[in-house]
Amino acid sequence: MQRILMVCLGNICRSPLAEGILRSKVDTENVFIDSAGTGDYHIGHLPDKRSIEVAKKYGIDITYQRARRISVADFENFDVIYAMDTNNFKEIVTLARNTTDAQKVKLILNESNPGKNRSVPDPYFDEKKGFEDVFKMLDKACEIIANKI
Ligand code: 4NP
Repeated sequence: MQRILMVCLGNICRSPLAEGILRSKVDTENVFIDSAGTGDYHIGHLPDKRSIEVAKKYGIDITYQRARRISVADFENFDVIYAMDTNNFKEIVTLARNTTDAQKVKLILNESNPGKNRSVPDPYFDEKKGFEDVFKMLDKACEIIANKI
């Protein structure tokens, strides 16, 4: 059983989409996927309406998700931790207890753009269009992740 955690800041916009998209591409009997945020602003909340909407447009339901904050235990519970942006990456690495933990943290867009260290832009303060762009970026990266599993 491979265990993958998707992480952004609020766990309401980007990482819920990454979780939903990857789930739609793998056999969830063999892969456990979850998401979390580095911040605590939205704990317990549903994903952002605009994330729910764009996911639904592509046939993916993310309304079962509730935001939570990443914790040190996640280094034990997951094999790979995908950060949506470079700030998330730094925050997560700060929580790492050792190099084994730290090596689990990757930037998700390095799957689709190896070595470029690109960030999924934070769409929270954007227009709706930002969510469509985020969906497409994550869909591409998740397709590559799914094919490697
Ligand atoms: P996310 O987007 O990190 O993709 O979930 C954000 C959601 C909320 C906030 C920032 C980013 N916020 O500042 O509340």
